[in-house]
Amino acid sequence: MLGANIILLSLAALVAADCNLPEELKNEIASYATTIDLIITAATNGSFKGVTYNELAKFVDRFGGRKVGSKSLEDSIDYMLNLSLAYDLQNVHGEEVEIPVWERGSESAVLIEPRTKDIRMLGLIYSVATPVEGILAEVLVVKSFDELKERAAEANGKIVVFNEDFISYGETGQYRGYGAIEAAKVGAVATLIKSVSPFSPANPHTGILAYDDSITPIPAACIASNDANMLQRMQERGDTIKILLKMEAKMLPNQISRNAVAELKGNINPEKVVIVSGHIDSVDVGDGAMDDGGGVFISWAAAALLNSLGLKPRRTIRAIYWTAEEAGGVGLTAYQQVHEDEIENFNFVMDTDVGTFTPLGIEYEAGENGGCILQEIMKLLTSINATQARSVEMGLWPETPTASLYNANEQYFWYHHSPQDTMDIEDTNALDKCTAVWSSVAYILADLSVDFPKD
Ligand SMILES: *[C@@H]1O[C@H](CO)[C@@H](O)[C@H](O)[C@H]1NC(C)=O
Ligand SMILES: *[C@@H]1O[C@H](CO)[C@@H](O)[C@H](O)[C@H]1NC(C)=O
Ligand SMILES: *[C@@H]1O[C@H](CO)[C@@H](O)[C@H](O)[C@H]1NC(C)=O
Ligand SMILES: [Zn+2]
Repeated sequence: MLGANIILLSLAALVAADCNLPEELKNEIASYATTIDLIITAATNGSFKGVTYNELAKFVDRFGGRKVGSKSLEDSIDYMLNLSLAYDLQNVHGEEVEIPVWERGSESAVLIEPRTKDIRMLGLIYSVATPVEGILAEVLVVKSFDELKERAAEANGKIVVFNEDFISYGETGQYRGYGAIEAAKVGAVATLIKSVSPFSPANPHTGILAYDDSITPIPAACIASNDANMLQRMQERGDTIKILLKMEAKMLPNQISRNAVAELKGNINPEKVVIVSGHIDSVDVGDGAMDDGGGVFISWAAAALLNSLGLKPRRTIRAIYWTAEEAGGVGLTAYQQVHEDEIENFNFVMDTDVGTFTPLGIEYEAGENGGCILQEIMKLLTSINATQARSVEMGLWPETPTASLYNANEQYFWYHHSPQDTMDIEDTNALDKCTAVWSSVAYILADLSVDFPKD
């Protein structure tokens, strides 16, 4: 997950709006009950039981992290193309995308005063380097952008440490995204930002930052919460704090990567498409099992499972494993540009990047009628208790209704973009249920007699 784009709408939106779907459509959706039971059984207690977890584990164990610009990412893309072919999916291919490549090199932050200590840090993706000898400077700790403005006169020539409280990824992520710009504006020479996580002692989290062309970029890294809190306490006691920051970060020449595509061809309107997707790249630390290996594998499994059951929907189900999401949604943006003329045929986009813990249902961005259809579909998932459909803002597909998994991901940001994003977070039964949700929703959306409303 990269962006701050999932914001809950009002509580009212959580409850089914007054739905006035035609009886005929409600009956049609209800008529899928037997097929959905078949799909759920296959995923949780039949031919696909354990398959999502086992295949994800094989993939994660073989490739580990899949950094943008790495051989392991490109090999993992080949592997997913092979795996899609092995399950008889169709039109399996990669689509080339030019990607920016950033490399962290070696890096360190050492507390020099009031005592010596290694600060646990991770450079932010796209950060510039320090000079070779590093930056040795006094530290100013602030809790917010507002406090930085109040204390602007004290910031010149210092390393600004943001010790913000975690509120939500969207809100708190602003510090990771824009901290380097705001700190540079008041003359800071570098910035260290408390990791965007509700719980991350001794565990720094990375992610991309933004620079502003009109302001000289300064080096920026995230630090573990315990170190940020310690620096705050030292400042409050009146200690002079000095840190030596060294970062070799640099941009390499652009490379070519690929979005990987595999289809279950529709049998009546193959030109119309329901996309199921997740991103195959990961940040360079951790194994990218959760972010977003799980999303890729339930998307792969949705197409593979339906195919293995011989379920051919009217429309095409297109599984896409996006590349270079962690570089700033590069694969998705390129795909939307290249497929601009096809977008009107994209009936629905399912794209998930929020973990694959126990599923509760789906989150969607669709019009009012669309929301009603989704609420109706989710009623068929009672046996796995994943019946909720709630409206959120995703903002990635302005012209196309979209949904993401809704899952019990309270601990997602404990691990996100950190070395702890490993296979240990994934659970085989939860993954089976996620696959059941993803397959069921994709199948009905791709098979309904009416196109999904786009208003
Ligand atoms: C799972 O499948 C086995 C046999 O394949 C069956 O005996 C068992 O009742 C099933 N469990 C559920 C919860 O359906
Ligand atoms: C994919 O399959 C091809 C053809 O069988 C094989 O040469 C290649 O090594 C496979 N790649 C991976 C990453 O498994
Ligand atoms: C079903 O999910 C709800 C929350 O969505 C939870 O309160 C309830 O305990 C769950 N029931 C079962 C049987 O898991
Ligand atoms: Zn992600």
